[in-house]
Parts: sequence; C-alpha cells; structure tokens
Amino acid sequence: MAEKQTFGSKLGLIAATVGSAVGLGNVWRFPAETQANGGAAFLIVYIGCVFLLGLPVMLAEMSLGRAGRTDVVSVFRRFAPRKPWWVAGGIALLASYLILCFYMVVAGWTLEYLWQAISGNLFSGVPGTGKAMESGFQLKMEQFIGSDFRPLAATYIMIALNICVLLMGVRKGIERASNIMMPLLFVLLVIFAIVSLQMPKAAEGLSFFLKPDFSRITPGVVVSALGQAFFSLSLGMGILITYSAYYPSDVKLGRTSITVASLDLLVALLMGVIIFPAVLSFGLDQDSLMGTTLVFVTLPEVFEQMPAPQFWAVLFFLLLLLAALTSTISIAEVSVKFVCDRFGLSRFYSCLVVLAPLFLFSAICSLSFGSLSSITIAGKNIFDFLDMFATNICLPLASLLTCLYVGWGAPKRLFRSQLTNRSTLRMALYPCILAIVRYVAPLLILLIWLSNFIQF
Ligand code: PHE
Repeated sequence: MAEKQTFGSKLGLIAATVGSAVGLGNVWRFPAETQANGGAAFLIVYIGCVFLLGLPVMLAEMSLGRAGRTDVVSVFRRFAPRKPWWVAGGIALLASYLILCFYMVVAGWTLEYLWQAISGNLFSGVPGTGKAMESGFQLKMEQFIGSDFRPLAATYIMIALNICVLLMGVRKGIERASNIMMPLLFVLLVIFAIVSLQMPKAAEGLSFFLKPDFSRITPGVVVSALGQAFFSLSLGMGILITYSAYYPSDVKLGRTSITVASLDLLVALLMGVIIFPAVLSFGLDQDSLMGTTLVFVTLPEVFEQMPAPQFWAVLFFLLLLLAALTSTISIAEVSVKFVCDRFGLSRFYSCLVVLAPLFLFSAICSLSFGSLSSITIAGKNIFDFLDMFATNICLPLASLLTCLYVGWGAPKRLFRSQLTNRSTLRMALYPCILAIVRYVAPLLILLIWLSNFIQF
C-alpha cells in the first residue's frame, strides 16, 4: 500500500529533518575536530562546506524526494525506468541500513548511561579525583561496552522504542515525536551552554575551542570538513529523499534547507561552547575530547566535580538520547518506506520486516565488543568495519550518484520546478545551485571518497 502521507505542519517537518541531522556527529565529532584543526579557521571552512556544497546537495535530494513521492530506490526507477540510476538509491538504502544496525547500539549505550545516571550507579564505585577517577570512568565504560548482556538489553529497548514511533506513522509517530523531542533538546542545550559559560575558565575554553590557526588548514583538513558536513547533514543516506517525499508541495525547499543546515550548525557550535569551558575548568586531559571517551568518560568526570552531579548527568544523557533517537528514527524510515512502497506492504508489516532483523544484526554489532570481538574484518571488529564501510565508502558514493542524477540524468525541469514550487517562487541562485550539483559537488565528493585510499 503506497502511502500518500505528508507532514502535518512546517514546524513538524523541520523538527523531524533537524532531528535527523542533529546526532552524535554534532556532539562527539564536530567540537573536537574544530579544536584540533584550527578553531575558527576550521569553522570558516566548515561553514563554507555546509552552505556552498551541503545545501545544494541537500536541495538535490529534497527535490528528487518531493518530485517522486516514493522511496529512495523507486524514485530513481520512476524517473529513469530504463537506466541503472536506481543503483544510487540502492547504495543509499544499503548504507542507511548498515548505519542503522550499529547506530542503534550506540543509541543503546546512551540509554544505559541515562539509566545509570538516574539510578545513581554512574558515580558509585568510582575512585577519588583526577587521574584515578578518569581511569575509573574509563574502566566502567570498557567493562560495560565489553560485556554481553547490558548493552544488548539497552539496544533492544532502543529498537523497541523505534518500532513504537515508526508504527504510528509519519504524522502521529515521527512528526509528533520530533515535535516533543527537538524543543526539549534545544532547551537542554541552552541550559548547558549557560551553565558552561559561567564556569571559571569559560573564556579560556572558548578561546581554546575557536582560536584561529590558519596554518592548520591543509587539503586533508578541508576534505575532512567536507566529510563531516555531509555526515552531519545526513546526506547520502536517503533520509532527505525519504522525508521530503512527505513534504507538502507548498513548502519552500530553499528556506527549509537553510533552516535545517543552520540549526544543525548551531547545535554543533553549542556543543563546543558547552564542552570546552567545562572540560578546561576542571583541568582535564585535553586529548579525551572525542567520541565515546568524551561522552562516557570525560563528561561524567566533569559532572562529578560539579554540584549535583547526578542531576547534570541525567540531563546530559537525556540530551544525547534525544539526539540519537531522532536520528535512528529517520534512518530507519528510509527502509520502512522502501518496504512499504516497493513491496506494497502495510506500514505495520514494513516496520516489522525492517526492524525485527535488527534484534539479530544490532546484537552482532553490540557483541562485537564482547564475545564476538575476536571476529575481525580488515583488522577491525564488526562494528568498526560496518561504520567504515557505510560511512566512508557507501555514503559518498550515494551522494555522488545522486548529484550526477539530479544534475544530468533527471527530467530537465525537475530540479528547477521543485526549487521554485512550479515557477511560483523566484530562485535567482538556481544557475549557481545547478552548477554546483553538476560539477563542483561531484568532484569534491569524489575527493572525499578517494581520501579513503589516498592521503591528501
Ligand atoms: N547527522 C547525523 C549525526 O550527526 C547522522 C546520522 C543520521 C546518523 C541518522 C545516523 C542516523 O549523527
């Protein structure tokens, strides 16, 4: 049964799309990457990547999605029935499903930590202060991730939560959940930013985060800024094609994409504003600012030294959980819509067909830090291999092919007509946007892709 559903309100569709873009990438990659690669200098490059390249590619995905109003693979088949462009959608679908498998595990970790914070266990049994405490949290995290049962249970709860939201459909499920979760996420961010800015070393922290150092900007750094921008905007995963299939026809794609990209950037910046003053004020190790170490070791250590540690830890892991949940919902919807539209199944069965196998696949990812850690592919455990393969190989490829399709292969008027809502809006920048989608973006995405094999 092909659904012809749409989001019920503009605010709702923005909340859902921003919800997808705002994820763990904003929390544990952007701040550390900015700090390490030249602060404000990197930020300028990053902002350039988001608005000069990310936006046109976003618009390409959104136009295709709204014009086709179907799933990520069928949309290519619909406009190019006799050509193999559907492979672009197929790669995006594959990437999105693989990412879903392992992201669900990380989402589970945030849930477990939220529970640990609520129950007070997070801070119990962690020794004294300083190095000892740091290694205490480190040990706690390693023990947790390396164990079998608890991470698995948390992952299963996350899968169940996703099923609950997705079963309720686009308006009552995705949109309503986003409408509740995203404002809450922003409120929490603002609270943390205010608290952080009042810490003793706030100014020092901000200058540590953003102090410009143009000598750090190398071609390699530009390529990684581009990669981060694309990942953060959820490009190449079929998410925007899928979500924009639910956009009403009067929504202005240009304005929507600018809003989404700006809010995503704002969250990334706020995370930096939160993390650096806090981390510096408590005199912690500066090399533990990224990834799981940042959120599961460094920050708990910061909270421990603040008044009411439990309160702050609960708020922070709630924030993280909201960011992860809105992302998993969006990426799961890519496959759900595919099964719905391609095989004509009801939403109920599509959700089950897509999400039930995760009880096995995500379990394998989860156990790849525990019982299955001896299984490696190309020197990585299963989780890390999937991450590398989906994120570094599949995503750029899907983006590249999508740009080539919208720029060159799609029916001539599709892109312009979507950007101008069938010529009812002016879009003076259309020639520039088209030129970027046709030439600049494919070339630069190719560079990102090649950077996996060649050092720039
Ligand atoms: N934009 C997301 C992030 O920053 C990427 C993502 C989306 C990952 C959906 C997984 C699922 O984390």
